Amino acid sequence: MNAIIKDGDRPNEGEAEKPQDVLAAALMVDMEAVNLLIRERMASRHAPRIPEVTAHLVEAGGKRLRPMLTLAAAHICGYQGTHHIKLAATVEFIHTATLLHDDVVDESAQRRGRPTANLLWDNKSSVLVGDYLFARSFQLMVETGTLRVMDILANASATIAEGEVLQLTAAQDLKTDEAIYLQVVRGKTAALFAAATEVGGVIAGAPEDHVRALFDYGDALGIAFQIADDMLDYGGSSAQIGKNTGDDFRERKVTLPVIKAVAAASPEERAFWTRVIEKGDQRDGDLDHALGLLTRTGAMQAAREDAFGWAAKARDALTRLPDHPLRQTLSDLADYVVSRLA
Ligand code: IPE
Ligand code: IPE
Ligand code: MG
Ligand code: MG
Repeated sequence: MNAIIKDGDRPNEGEAEKPQDVLAAALMVDMEAVNLLIRERMASRHAPRIPEVTAHLVEAGGKRLRPMLTLAAAHICGYQGTHHIKLAATVEFIHTATLLHDDVVDESAQRRGRPTANLLWDNKSSVLVGDYLFARSFQLMVETGTLRVMDILANASATIAEGEVLQLTAAQDLKTDEAIYLQVVRGKTAALFAAATEVGGVIAGAPEDHVRALFDYGDALGIAFQIADDMLDYGGSSAQIGKNTGDDFRERKVTLPVIKAVAAASPEERAFWTRVIEKGDQRDGDLDHALGLLTRTGAMQAAREDAFGWAAKARDALTRLPDHPLRQTLSDLADYVVSRLA
């Protein structure tokens, strides 16, 4: 089941292949097994609504970043067994469950380039099928028989939920500062990236300093990834991200670009942010005006620099890991998640 990874499998320097595609190619054999397992375990003999909803989401694809991180981490640490496949599927199930719940909470209409499950079916189906996927993920991780792995993934699941709840109370509140924002993104996004890489090391029996380096990489990568996601919610295109842009503005989320713009706002600009975010009085043209402000005040640029800083931290953490061809691919991935902002 182990992917055969040779130096020659990596594309030539300068070739514009996305690191996630390089990862997918290097981990192809493993990922086929992961996808098979996902398909097998997302089914339900008793409630047809479950496979309908899960197939809709899973067949839309998704980048499969988190399972690939688990597989890559295990390989870098020299793992020769097969439990990494189960862990990778576990991580993707947790991710998919949080997406189902997140789209209900955010009242989102588009995901992975398709209408969301909450739009096609309803909130009830999304919440319950999300619960089902969470439960399936627990069954999968138990099959590895490793208490430490279960501890890490159970903690990550709790931390994701905490991040999402903290965000609820931070939304619509212009007092939200960068420290709270960091706590939110560390929880809702980076916790699963960090757990994904960490369990790869743990299942491989890697020494503690390598496990720590993997955690640090996932944590920093996740933060960079979420800052980029938050910037693209304003500056990206729906075709580019497979989700509607402007969702965060409509939901009155106080994301990093907004925090930076508010900190530097003139009284008139502050009145605008108070009206649209705190009072929720949003009119035609406000989203464009907000984007203009984020750009003109340098808030977008400052957020971009923060994202690049986290990507650099992610790359640094990798230097503490054993030499392996996939180490470079993970390093390129850190650059890639923020390159969309260049
Ligand atoms: C979406 O994650 C949720 C965030 C943390 C922003 P991804 O962008 O990895 O989602 P898929 O799985 O590729 O659709
Ligand atoms: C993603 O949060 C984090 C989780 C799914 C827990 P967002 O709400 O920022 O992500 P998108 O933009 O909907 O993917
Ligand atoms: Mg969302
Ligand atoms: Mg959300």
